[in-house]
Amino acid sequence: MSAIKLRSIGKSYGTTSVLQRIDLDIRSGEFLTLVGPSGCGKSTLLRILAGLEVPSSGEVEIGGMPVTDVRPANRNLAMVFQSYALYPHLTIAQNMMTPLRLRDLSTAERLPFVGPMLGRVKYQQIQQQVQETAKVLRIEALLDRKPGQLSGGQRQRAALGRAMVRKPVAFLMDEPLSNLDAALRIHMRSELAELHRSLQATFVYVTHDQAEALTMSDRMAVMMDGNILQLGAPDEVYNDPQDIRVAEFVGAPKINLLAGNLDSDGHARCGEVVLSRVTASRASEKVSIGLRPEHLALCAASEPGCLSGRVVHKENLGADIYLHVAIDDGLHRMVVRTTPQEGVSVSLGSDVSFHRLHGQAMVFGADGKRIQLADAMSSQVPEVA
Ligand SMILES: Nc1ncnc2c1ncn2[C@@H]1O[C@H](COP(=O)(O)OP(=O)(O)OP(=O)(O)O)[C@@H](O)[C@H]1O
Ligand SMILES: [Mg+2]
Repeated sequence: MSAIKLRSIGKSYGTTSVLQRIDLDIRSGEFLTLVGPSGCGKSTLLRILAGLEVPSSGEVEIGGMPVTDVRPANRNLAMVFQSYALYPHLTIAQNMMTPLRLRDLSTAERLPFVGPMLGRVKYQQIQQQVQETAKVLRIEALLDRKPGQLSGGQRQRAALGRAMVRKPVAFLMDEPLSNLDAALRIHMRSELAELHRSLQATFVYVTHDQAEALTMSDRMAVMMDGNILQLGAPDEVYNDPQDIRVAEFVGAPKINLLAGNLDSDGHARCGEVVLSRVTASRASEKVSIGLRPEHLALCAASEPGCLSGRVVHKENLGADIYLHVAIDDGLHRMVVRTTPQEGVSVSLGSDVSFHRLHGQAMVFGADGKRIQLADAMSSQVPEVA
């Protein structure tokens, strides 16, 4: 079931169009990430969903109801901001109570006779709700502290707690981890994913960090220039990108792209690199051949059809070593993943040869769209030859 539907959402500021007719169904209970480079329109889309920004065209639906004209406060969505927006003079417990007190006590306090009594009952309920939420977030011991006395990660959880006590339809988060240091950011990825699983709530998460999107999401929408280029599960987007811009954006180190063309038989060809026949007969069209670093492996220089070059940089990540190899007399660079055992013996400035692993390659047409290979796995064509 869709929790949220965005229909043909467009947004312009003056003559500048920042979102172009975006359609997106967000499923109930999923962790959906909007990911893309800076300025592609992620925050604008999230703010339209929250009601903080009015779309120039299109409709927003929440739980089957059109809400395009509904005020942010009445959409029952919880926005967790990058800056956390906790009140510095209140304790964490008081911060977490605020949204509930504003909502419930204001009604109770308007009733002159039963108001104070109702207020007490409500207060106890609210306290209990705060305790329960704090338990889920493991911040029970911090409830009496002020935000200034917490670490970045704890503040993050307190801000989430404040959003959670309202039991919203969905949590909207705009780069919530960007203020944290690198180690904590990575730790919080798994915390958030775990929290999502335990809450079974809908999360809409904005980030420019493709690694965050890959590691946390059920589905990710890759945005560029105000469009969603691809929507899918992380492994689908990584392994089967439908657009060259998606292939380049997702994955670190980046995918290697070789310029080539389709020959008269429909093979994608780039110098020595020949790939199996593509389905479309688009002879002589210019194409790009995409090879991820892990699609390449070192081999003997004598192997027919391999590529060779000089190692100009070694990136040691512990579990993997990435070799940056200058090919074509230094005109192009390719990144090859090796194991530490293999990579350690390769010295900077040495010459290496590598080939494509069987069945691994992507071909993109001149329009940037993916061209499917007829049969990548059982190609009769040599791997790199
Ligand atoms: N109020 C505004 N007036 C004019 N242009 C705006 C306004 N708000 C955003 N923009 C423009 O709209 C585009 C999309 O902005 P948005 O904040 O949605 O990008 P983003 O994908 O969230 O980027 P980042 O990763 O840097 O946060 C940008 O080019 C931005 O300059
Ligand atoms: Mg933004």
